[in-house]
Amino acid sequence: MAGPGPRHAAATQYSSAADRSPAVPLHSLGARADDPDLWRELRARWGPVAPVETEPGIRAWLLLGYQENLEALRDRRRFSADTGSGTAPSADADGLPRARALSGDGADHARLRAPLTDALARIPAERVAAEVRGPALALIAAAAADGRIDLVGDYARPLPSLVLNRFFGLPDDYGRLLARLTFEADSGGDPARARTAAAALEEYFTGLVARRRAESGDDLASRVLAHPEALSDAEAAACLRLLWSAGHRPTAQLIGNALGLILGDARIGALYGQATLPSDDFLDYVMWTEPPLGALSGRRCTGDVRLGGAHLRPGDALVLGLAAAHADPAVTPGDRADGALALAGNRSHLMWGAGAHGCPAQGFAREIAGTAIDTLLERLPGLRAAGGSRPRRYRGTELQGPAELHAEFPAEQDTTVVGGRPPEAPRSGRRRRALPRPRPMGARYQAPQAAERPSPEAASVPVPRPAGARRPQGRGARYQAPDAAAPAAPDRLRALLDRWHVR
Ligand code: HEM
Repeated sequence: MAGPGPRHAAATQYSSAADRSPAVPLHSLGARADDPDLWRELRARWGPVAPVETEPGIRAWLLLGYQENLEALRDRRRFSADTGSGTAPSADADGLPRARALSGDGADHARLRAPLTDALARIPAERVAAEVRGPALALIAAAAADGRIDLVGDYARPLPSLVLNRFFGLPDDYGRLLARLTFEADSGGDPARARTAAAALEEYFTGLVARRRAESGDDLASRVLAHPEALSDAEAAACLRLLWSAGHRPTAQLIGNALGLILGDARIGALYGQATLPSDDFLDYVMWTEPPLGALSGRRCTGDVRLGGAHLRPGDALVLGLAAAHADPAVTPGDRADGALALAGNRSHLMWGAGAHGCPAQGFAREIAGTAIDTLLERLPGLRAAGGSRPRRYRGTELQGPAELHAEFPAEQDTTVVGGRPPEAPRSGRRRRALPRPRPMGARYQAPQAAERPSPEAASVPVPRPAGARRPQGRGARYQAPDAAAPAAPDRLRALLDRWHVR
């Protein structure tokens, strides 16, 4: 669970009952990591705060209660997101969904976050839907020739990289490259290959910044560069990389978990299919009942803290038990089978985090997931779960849900890509009824709603160039005018594409 940062063995000191009992080994839970009874058992044993090990010898406190998680997310005075200087275990290589670039507090964090938040807020929902549909249809067409598809591996997992690449303003070739590098870097099978892919990912983002410095457009990267905070090239590359690293896996998992529920639960499938359960409400239901994120490290105590009956010391590491908080009997219906549907449309879940580090891409991610689900169901109306064994699920504590989801459909359906472009999916708009406001059903906390769905006009606002920012380089890049006087400098992105042979 912990990543490449320095290790602080046994730095967290336990007090009270925790001192006398072995900590729960989060690092080796195996299949239990995905057992819905696990959180209940831990809560019964420890109460809302349990002593855990995130790696052998690396201790932390796992927050199991909704209220305790919310406090840790919102109270910056007692809990810091700056894990670098304390004893908290660092997040994994890409920080899921935290990332090192934003894992600070105060002015530095605000300065780096503002360009991302502002750039995301200016994307209208309709544009997101349009940019998801094309890659979604292409993936369906590519995987579905024989009437079978792995909805996680072939669809949900590559889709967010393809979509984000479009929002970086790059052609789909680069999206396929990003998806491939993502797959290689995450697969974990061959560490040397994963390292090569991780290095190539760095090049993708430095190359993206170089290209957008040379030629800006109406895209996320250009907006980040043009922001008045005037990020350096290195800062901008790190922030854009963070946007991708924080975004792609939870979004893919949300899509996968949602499709798993639609195909695996006949009642949910029918309600969603008939549009009785609107898309946004359904996504909240998924966040509560089949959350894409389980537990995230990324906070430490700034001083002595009493939390959920435990005494935490300065520097103690915290693991945010987001999925556990959703199973807290204090906030969820006791009988999940009967009462869980009441959670549809309830936006008080913690899947977006909360407070200063809360996810800045909530509307964006919802739109990607909703469009991905609807495009698939509209394109493949006969889709059903393939028979056979129960789908393999993630065994770590961070991502939760199916790691594969095999489905089949009548093979004669037309999913072919004609003239390089897939056919447009019918746009019924059946399930996409936007809910104007979250309903406060039992909510103790309402997720921030700031600027989630900006007006369509916002997209056409020209991207201003801040005073002092570098002017575009008019010469040298290959994609510049052919009469550029200087010899062409190699374009790093183009070279990367050639090196990985992605077309
Ligand atoms: C279903 C999809 C998603 C989920 C469940 C999710 C969840 C979260 C959570 C829980 C946090 C807070 C972490 C913390 O406080 O330590 C967070 C932060 C963040 N998310 Fe998301 N996220 C999703 C999609 C995305 C997407 C699509 C993007 C960008 C394109 C994105 C960008 C970010 C960034 C940049 C942060 C860091 C904010 C900061 O530290 O100030 N997320 N996300």
